[in-house]
Amino acid sequence: MSHESRFLCRLDELPDGGSRGLLREGFEDRLCVVRQGDEVFVWLNDCPHEHRPLEYRQDQFLSGDGGHIVCYAHSAHFDIRSGHCFAGPCTGAHLLKVPAEVRDGEVWISADLPSVFD
Ligand code: FES
Repeated sequence: MSHESRFLCRLDELPDGGSRGLLREGFEDRLCVVRQGDEVFVWLNDCPHEHRPLEYRQDQFLSGDGGHIVCYAHSAHFDIRSGHCFAGPCTGAHLLKVPAEVRDGEVWISADLPSVFD
């Protein structure tokens, strides 16, 4: 990752096997953050189907078994690692990835977030 990164949160602020919304703006969290052990996956909180936020309530982005990301609006299912939509109305589409890395127990992300309009 380039040197242009910004601190997101501490790793231990993320529930292992769970998700959190971060970078709150107004009533919306801009990011969907999923932790699996020492790995963290960060996605723009923007469903490619109708560009709505994904979560069904704050910090709740995952299926009941924690196995994948689900968009609450129309039940699109996304792979946590690849962001690939494998079921639902936008099958074949992708979430937008925010490059992230864990350093010394801290999660850092790219300073520039991807744009839905690129
Ligand atoms: S807005 Fe996400 S499935 Fe429709």
